[in-house]
Amino acid sequence: ASMNVKFVSADGAEEELSIDDGVSLMEAAVHGGIDGIDADCGGQLSCATCHIYLDEAWQSRVPPPAADEEDMLEFAVGRDARSRLSCQIIMNASLDGLIVHIPESQT
Ligand code: FES
Repeated sequence: ASMNVKFVSADGAEEELSIDDGVSLMEAAVHGGIDGIDADCGGQLSCATCHIYLDEAWQSRVPPPAADEEDMLEFAVGRDARSRLSCQIIMNASLDGLIVHIPESQT
């Protein structure tokens, strides 16, 4: 199965991708040509350039970050309460319709 995710750029442009179950949000964004997800470390949780903001409606619907993601988020530019690392968000049916925002610092 695949889920739809909407990526909203810092200037408000929206792009939607259909993402397969089990694929990370970061991989899907990179392969889908979403601007602003550099993912320099390739998902190894050591770069924080896959930083995204969860849409407010989704804050409580996405499982919270694990301790190692929390540690790496310290390095994310412009971090706030909505911040996540997209390589650590693995798609499943419960995330269908997810909306994320690209930080201004990455555009
Ligand atoms: Fe490097 Fe997510 S891709 S921390």
